Amino acid sequence: MNPLVIVIPVVVVLAGVVLFAASRRRDSGGATGALSRETLKRDKSATALESDAELVGVSGRQVEASAALDRRPAAPATTNTEVAPFVPPDADALGISRRKFFNRSIIVLMGLSLSGFGAAILAFLWPMPKGGFGSKIRVGNVAEISAKITASKGFLYSAEGRMWMTNYPISAFEKAKKVYPAAVLPSMEAGIVALYQKCPHLGCRVPSCATSQWFECPCHGSQYNAAGEKKGGPAPRGMDRFATSVTGGVLTVDTGQIFQGPAIGTNTTGQEAEGPHCVGGGEH
Ligand code: FES
Repeated sequence: MNPLVIVIPVVVVLAGVVLFAASRRRDSGGATGALSRETLKRDKSATALESDAELVGVSGRQVEASAALDRRPAAPATTNTEVAPFVPPDADALGISRRKFFNRSIIVLMGLSLSGFGAAILAFLWPMPKGGFGSKIRVGNVAEISAKITASKGFLYSAEGRMWMTNYPISAFEKAKKVYPAAVLPSMEAGIVALYQKCPHLGCRVPSCATSQWFECPCHGSQYNAAGEKKGGPAPRGMDRFATSVTGGVLTVDTGQIFQGPAIGTNTTGQEAEGPHCVGGGEH
């Protein structure tokens, strides 16, 4: 292959590049209007000399850009240096973010918890309605109660007062006065005993036994006669009883005042078991 085929196009391209560069230099030199060193020496204005000297080496486009900047109106001087107050964006316009949703949910849950806690405290401190166990219960006419006891085969139960009521023989009252506290005597004098249902041993509810006509505790076998005096078993004393009063023939039992039962060995009525026991042990 003839090398001229390569050399000639390369030379042509290089010549074109050189010519293009030369034309660019001529354009920029005409635009800047650079002064010769001799002219500068002859110029009497030092200020003009310095100013023009700064233009040496600056392109025409830069000069035009600088002139355009000089022609622009100056920006007004800012005298107000106060910071504009912050205006929060409109929540409705933005909608509820996830963070807001969780924050509000936590607040609502805390409010509900505190409300429930406050309601529980109020319920605890609210005064109990009158009546029922712990209060004075107006049982009724003594004669009618005694008849009910007899009709109930010797034992009348009151769920309201958590008590048993039995008939007490008037003939034994003189002995009772020597054994029992004065607060429980009024009903005994009227022929009725008001006994707390709770076994003085370990607290079981003591049922009556229809056959023996005693109270016989199924838990550990303690036994008491119809007046609640201990007859057998591990109980440390007779059945506890309530303060009573009789006014105008009406019996009132104060279930808020409980007196301990009589000591072991107390037997004011002399009642023995009248039939088979419901719970093992004891006498018959
Ligand atoms: S609780 Fe009644 S005998 Fe033990």
